[in-house]
Amino acid sequence: MNLKTQFFASRLSKIPPYLFAELDKLKLKYQSTTEIIDFGEGNPTLPPHPHLLNFLRKSLNVSENHRYPTYQGKLSVREAISKWYKERFNVTLDPETEVAVLIGSKEGVAHLFWALVDRGDKVYVPSPSYPVYLNQTYLAGGIPILIPIMEKNRFLPELTRIKFSKRSKLFCLNYPNNPTGAVAPYEFYNEIVNLALKYNFYCFNDNVYSEIYYTTPPHSILEIPGAKECCVEFHSLSKTFSICGWRIGFVVGNADMIQALLKVKQNVDSGPFGAIQDSVIFALNNWKKFSKLTRQIYKENMLYLSDALNKLGWSSQMPEATFYLWCKIPFKQFRYDSLQFATFLLKNTGILVTPGIGFGKYGEGYVRFAVVLPKAKIKKAIMRLKKLDYKT
Ligand SMILES: Cc1ncc(COP(=O)(O)O)c(C=O)c1O
Repeated sequence: MNLKTQFFASRLSKIPPYLFAELDKLKLKYQSTTEIIDFGEGNPTLPPHPHLLNFLRKSLNVSENHRYPTYQGKLSVREAISKWYKERFNVTLDPETEVAVLIGSKEGVAHLFWALVDRGDKVYVPSPSYPVYLNQTYLAGGIPILIPIMEKNRFLPELTRIKFSKRSKLFCLNYPNNPTGAVAPYEFYNEIVNLALKYNFYCFNDNVYSEIYYTTPPHSILEIPGAKECCVEFHSLSKTFSICGWRIGFVVGNADMIQALLKVKQNVDSGPFGAIQDSVIFALNNWKKFSKLTRQIYKENMLYLSDALNKLGWSSQMPEATFYLWCKIPFKQFRYDSLQFATFLLKNTGILVTPGIGFGKYGEGYVRFAVVLPKAKIKKAIMRLKKLDYKT
């Protein structure tokens, strides 16, 4: 240990390096020799709708927007969110108490752990899952209970196998799911909400992919009677409106959980930029039109990639939702080493995918394609993948 780092908080040593920062390092290593085709991060390359951009430009002229925002977000924005929830999920929300605007859903998810989790509390973390849930559990001093989500169970936790106790504090859910693309049926949400009410734990559903679906529109956990007593749900405008860089999302549901989250946030940040908040109203007022266009593009590209991979001998299944394609590793020698396989793929084809192990131990054996690239790039990737020898 060197002098500069020896006094860092010990909690930092509990979390591994952030997966996407590691992938960036791998990319840097190979990009001087190859043009990288990057299916790594779920970072859309689609441009935001031009009308949304115009609206943001106009919002820059509102002088109040250049002052500190309010912590919970503008009331007008919270009202637009409530209206959208009613239209989209038929859920009624009180914009005064049951809605808060976030600097992206990641910010809200992370801070919720600080509001709820005490040292020694049990946090139920699906595996595989978005790495933030596990790492925030460690940072907050909680005890992660890994819940396998397996293909044979349609990537849903087997709730009847889980033992809850007095220290059960928080259950993390993310449907539509990153990385597997699975969605949760109404019955599943019903089961978990009833367990949460019975055993007195909190639950969140990270519903950031609610509008990127290919068959029927996914549910909200708040559709379940009683859910507002123990649950919150996170949303993001990043994926639906291709504005990841704007950093804007929101949380809805249990008013006490939202108050607790805001108490943490009041000591960390000052809310999202007012002009970006105003754009939420415009985006949500046009959600049907904007999200339909986006879905059409993702569906076409996803079908193309999934089909082309299967013709090469991969086994990929069209997801129900999200822009992620979760595939079993097609080469025997790499079947249980997704990091080695991802490195092999990058070295031999210049294609970057995310190794399943990066999402937790039950993600091993898979890789994830984030299908956020233009069709021409996807076609180019297939040409390169054709050159590999699939008999080995
Ligand atoms: C499950 C999940 N939650 C949250 C986020 C972050 O969303 P935001 O851009 O709103 O912070 C992502 C981004 O990839 C995600 O996959």
